[in-house]
Amino acid sequence: MGSPYDVLGLNADADEDAVVQSYRELVKEAHPDHGGSVAEFKRVRRAYDHITAGRDPATFEADRSDPTAENDRTGSTEDPTAAGDNRDGPAAAAEEGSESELGPTVEYLDYAVVESRGWDLADDDLFQKAEAADLGVDSHGLLVVEPRETLLEAAERYGFSWPYACRGGACANCAVAVVEGDLEMPVSTVLGDELTDRGVRLSCIGEPVTDDLKIVFNIEHLPGLAELRLPAEQFGNARADD
Ligand code: FES
Repeated sequence: MGSPYDVLGLNADADEDAVVQSYRELVKEAHPDHGGSVAEFKRVRRAYDHITAGRDPATFEADRSDPTAENDRTGSTEDPTAAGDNRDGPAAAAEEGSESELGPTVEYLDYAVVESRGWDLADDDLFQKAEAADLGVDSHGLLVVEPRETLLEAAERYGFSWPYACRGGACANCAVAVVEGDLEMPVSTVLGDELTDRGVRLSCIGEPVTDDLKIVFNIEHLPGLAELRLPAEQFGNARADD
């Protein structure tokens, strides 16, 4: 399979929306936590990066050994295939590695689904319910956060439009509920101790400090957070999420 479009199960003339949609679905299936493998996951991600960077599909296999090619979208100076790499071995060996090399994996769920289905944020089996419900990837799925990337930036890299306003810790528009794992917020925020203790974090400044996280996004209308929201129009580059 020599084309990045083949990896994503698409025809070579697939448009951007089809590429994004296929990628979002395949990263979930390919992730080791969902029955895939590190090599499979990396191959899907590399195919997506190759296409969205506008690189020639014919160079997909050749670019495997060019670390600068894979880093085009991330801006990283590190070679993501460095550990466990074996450029002299079979093609698959070059993409093998440990699960931790993938970066922190975030399982996300849209609060709108929680609300519409009568589920509760405190449900112990909330994410099992989401998995069983076979929701679309806009509502439930997996994403991997790159080094020095915030959760919001990662979501946007996957093409999602999660809510935000200030992008600096001064509002609650981008709030998420952390159900498992943790996000570290490096600056002081408008969230008080009570919200923080309840697992609320701000995705615009939050960076994962655990390998696996489960979060619910779109919670900004919940009591205690609604009062901290800001109008998105107040910020020139902000997406209006009202
Ligand atoms: S968008 Fe305002 S704190 Fe994140």
